[in-house]
Amino acid sequence: MRCSSVFFVFCVKQMSNADMFPKNHDEIDFEFLGNIRGKEWRVQTNVYGNGSTDTGREERYNLWFDPSEDYHQYSILWTDSHIIFYVDNIPIRVVKKSEAMGGDYPSKPMSLYATIWDGSDWATNGDKYRVNYKYAPFKAEFSDLVLHGCAVDPIEQVSKKCDKTQGSEYIPTGVTRLQRMRMESFRKRQMTYSYC
Ligand SMILES: *[C@@H]1O[C@H](CO)[C@@H](O)[C@H](O)[C@H]1NC(C)=O
Repeated sequence: MRCSSVFFVFCVKQMSNADMFPKNHDEIDFEFLGNIRGKEWRVQTNVYGNGSTDTGREERYNLWFDPSEDYHQYSILWTDSHIIFYVDNIPIRVVKKSEAMGGDYPSKPMSLYATIWDGSDWATNGDKYRVNYKYAPFKAEFSDLVLHGCAVDPIEQVSKKCDKTQGSEYIPTGVTRLQRMRMESFRKRQMTYSYC
């Protein structure tokens, strides 16, 4: 994904099911926040489960590159035991399903969205700068979208067709030692906010 010349707007790549479950939806997000030219780009991740929007699990980081200059890979691995966010194949966050999360772990079928929207109310240094439409149109460019998983019948809500090319042996069950070192180093240097 590449967000180019974006002023005070943000690109979002997320999984959600708010249309099917308006009261208790799940959501897993990558959100690129409003940026001022020349400043470090900020991205945040969040996880909601079963409508837990008032216990968001937000984390915010500065990127080590300008995402509007080139394509980078942003990935979300979601299994029934853990969620891993990756930027260019470096894991930046692991969320493990735990007792403490209770029903807050995303567990219902979701769709994938990649959008750009006006987040003036909160995504621009908390409402400090509004989207300036003088700079419109705003563009987000996406390429090489890959989606593995099980397709779900929207009416019956059961999955019948799974992606056979992605056998369970290819699904990481966690991060390797090397990946964990890179993740910890990223989090120490680049994370600027965490909900806990
Ligand atoms: C999800 O929320 C619904 C409605 O609020 C509730 O009835 C249900 O028990 C919750 N599910 C879990 C797994 O906590």
